[in-house]
Amino acid sequence: MRSWQRRLSAAGALVAAVLALGAAGPRSPAPLQFSPAGRFKVVLFADLHYGENAWTDWGPAQDAASDHVMAAVLDAENPDFVVYLGDLVTANNVPVANASLYWDRAVSAARRRGVPWSTVFGNHDDMPFEWPPEWFSPAGVPPVHCPPAAPGCSFRGTPRVELMADELSRGGGLSRSSVGPRELWPGVSNYVLQVLSRERPRDPALLMYFLDSGGGSYPEVISCAQAAWFHSQARFLNPDGSIPELVFWHIPSTAYVKVAPKATTEISKPCVGSLNEEDVAPQAAEWGMMDALAHRPSVKAIFVGHNHGLDWCCPYEKLWLCFARHTGHGGYGDWPRGARIVDISEEEEHFSVNSWIRMENGSTHSHVTLTSARFS
Ligand SMILES: *[C@@H]1O[C@H](CO)[C@@H](O)[C@H](O)[C@H]1NC(C)=O
Ligand SMILES: *[C@@H]1O[C@H](CO)[C@@H](O)[C@H](O)[C@H]1NC(C)=O
Repeated sequence: MRSWQRRLSAAGALVAAVLALGAAGPRSPAPLQFSPAGRFKVVLFADLHYGENAWTDWGPAQDAASDHVMAAVLDAENPDFVVYLGDLVTANNVPVANASLYWDRAVSAARRRGVPWSTVFGNHDDMPFEWPPEWFSPAGVPPVHCPPAAPGCSFRGTPRVELMADELSRGGGLSRSSVGPRELWPGVSNYVLQVLSRERPRDPALLMYFLDSGGGSYPEVISCAQAAWFHSQARFLNPDGSIPELVFWHIPSTAYVKVAPKATTEISKPCVGSLNEEDVAPQAAEWGMMDALAHRPSVKAIFVGHNHGLDWCCPYEKLWLCFARHTGHGGYGDWPRGARIVDISEEEEHFSVNSWIRMENGSTHSHVTLTSARFS
């Protein structure tokens, strides 16, 4: 057993212990690996917001439209992996049993195609229930409709751990998500995935870190404890920084505000993108995560969702800060829907990360190379 495998199985044992939730069952998913051509292509689906206003016509109609966006992108791109970048559901106005159903509908786009995926939480995924004003009108409160035999059929927020446990139990071995170390709860989606090299199949050639940026049932932050956890994982898995690293979470950090082009102005170099329609809505505080990342040359880029009206990438220190692209028809904003694609190429002397946005109608734009000069 190589040292990284030992480290991973130690981490795995911890996760397994944490996952003593009964329903998860045995799972030993195949390792992620670069393709024979040395490529690993990731599609980012951001802000799907399934389950809005199920008691109206437009709620279910927009969910069907979101199904269509994901199908169009997956058919066009044929990725190796899908990252669901938070706000998969708008859980604040659905009964608890339905939140899991909507969540499952979101990830079924990848599952049905046999594509492995992982998820991170956004600020709407476990929102406490909010009573819509119209329920106090003469029309009154609609009846709670739940799937037959669903337990917990009531209006309340669905806890992150329940959503994640449900995903893992239904994942068919394709979900690579995790409930993360218990000491980081209530932040749940904190875990690392390795992508093995094609040429040296025992060695990881890419590390992908997933973090829970909070929101919903607790503040919109990445904690000091998460930053410390990142440090220890990185030291463990990548002590000499020789493996390139990518990072995914939902809510932009305050560093995004620093590099943002002024809202509603044209996006110009070095930033690349097509949508700049609003101000960055950042996390509530910065408690060390950006410092940790900016000082690791192996970290290439961070990807977030949350702001539906932004889709740019801008450099920050030695890495790139990127928005995904609003994918779902749920949530605010009428900008055309699409998805950010991250295409990683493993070559001996030239590791590269290229990215672009694929629209629902098949067009692509905003191509950018995210490998910093230091690495290319
Ligand atoms: C819950 O799910 C059921 C079955 O899919 C659906 O009929 C119902 O409208 C949903 N209710 C809400 C409030 O989301
Ligand atoms: C696709 O949609 C984009 C807007 O996102 C538009 O600019 C482009 O012209 C469309 N292309 C086609 C082929 O319809």
